[in-house]
Amino acid sequence: MAPPLRLCFIGCGARAKAYAEAAARHPSALSTAAVADPVASQRADVLALVPDQAVMEFNTGEELLAAGKLGDVAVITTQDRFHYRQAKLALHAGYDLLLEKPAACTAVEVHELVELANSLGRRIVLCFVLRHTPFYRKVKEVIDSGALGKLVSIQATEGVEPWHFTHSFVRGHWSRSTDSTPMIVAKCSHDTDILSWLVDSEWVEVSSFAGNQWFRPENAPAGATARCTDPCPHANGGCAYAAQRYLTDKKQPWLPQVMSGWASASDTDILEWLRQGNWGRCVYHCDQDTPDHQVVSLRFASGVTAQLLMTAFDQGRRIRIHGTEAVLQGSMHADGIEHRLELRHHDGRVEEIEVEDPGGNGYVGHGGGDDALIATLHEQFTAPGPYDNHHFMAGHLIAFAADTAARTGLAIYLSHPTPH
Ligand SMILES: NC(=O)c1ccc[n+]([C@@H]2O[C@H](COP(=O)([O-])OP(=O)(O)OC[C@H]3O[C@@H](n4cnc5c(N)ncnc54)[C@H](O)[C@@H]3O)[C@@H](O)[C@H]2O)c1
Repeated sequence: MAPPLRLCFIGCGARAKAYAEAAARHPSALSTAAVADPVASQRADVLALVPDQAVMEFNTGEELLAAGKLGDVAVITTQDRFHYRQAKLALHAGYDLLLEKPAACTAVEVHELVELANSLGRRIVLCFVLRHTPFYRKVKEVIDSGALGKLVSIQATEGVEPWHFTHSFVRGHWSRSTDSTPMIVAKCSHDTDILSWLVDSEWVEVSSFAGNQWFRPENAPAGATARCTDPCPHANGGCAYAAQRYLTDKKQPWLPQVMSGWASASDTDILEWLRQGNWGRCVYHCDQDTPDHQVVSLRFASGVTAQLLMTAFDQGRRIRIHGTEAVLQGSMHADGIEHRLELRHHDGRVEEIEVEDPGGNGYVGHGGGDDALIATLHEQFTAPGPYDNHHFMAGHLIAFAADTAARTGLAIYLSHPTPH
């Protein structure tokens, strides 16, 4: 095997930690050359995951990228709004990229990144980790085996789960599309990518409807205060979203994702952090612009149609794939089950399909997708022959088109970038 690829982490937050931890399990394939983050404790957390390596430290990704080429792959895991600019800098600085989704904040910028990488002869691996999960790999394998006959339609659901929804999309990083990306892009570009990968045909038309049904001031319980710590009369029982739960049953896995230094924080420190920061706000009194439900309808060039439902009020991903010979149906992290997959033939036979256990807590590691993506990195970056940087375009473009469709009430007909 060629020498280990040297990774340079730009952003040392939750995703970087997951990837650094996974990379440390493949020392002959991956090493860490540099880390950049303005928060020293974030850098320290990633450095602790690669203890025996000589790693350079920088305050920002921009400083790292201005310091010459320090490694092979820039791992860009900053928040959405940084990706496009840092990705361009890194491509120009000579790096291949492991780039978090969404690649950029508009469809046009995503297109530009693909063109730039192609023109410079660089590779971008996009962190669409679901493609790497045993569950979706098996779904793809069954479709490709022909067991479904001719593919006709797909119904998919992404149940974000109410606490997760409020943590990320009401109180959290993705609550305002203007600071990050629209909900359907931030969360469901995974799903639109999976749909386009499974159907394996160009998409031609998207329509979509969305709304914020519940997390609005008029739905707050009587007397609810702007912050759970104000104090709110519903904080100790009665409200499922009381921020005090970050000290108890919702501490893991949620607090480590957003509170720097959480491991050594006392209850008093956490309460003070809730008093000051976004995650202590009443979920009915946030200024989010995210829908808590959205439906997306899709038509592909092959004639296949697909429907995606995103809802805050369900948990896990579900899929039903209708073919002329059989229906493949299954779910991941739904109904308290890691995954389930069955093939229901139209002649009445029903087959349980076995899916490899990803191990550990699949929900946190994206059903084994995080580890599997990292395990394939060396090969993806070094395999000889041409590389297709278009592989992540469709998932992004469909999601941006769905956002435009929901906001305008128009159906979007295209297979090239929608100005956003
Ligand atoms: N692939 C997936 O399934 C998946 C899952 C969750 C999040 N994400 C995406 O991953 C990205 C990161 O999410 P996260 O939860 O790790 O975010 P995070 O907020 O935990 O981490 C971002 C880090 O970037 C640092 N940072 C800010 N400015 C910087 C700069 N100029 N240079 C270097 N670092 C800088 C911050 O200090 C922070 O530590 C987001 O774009 C998110 O949408 C992808």
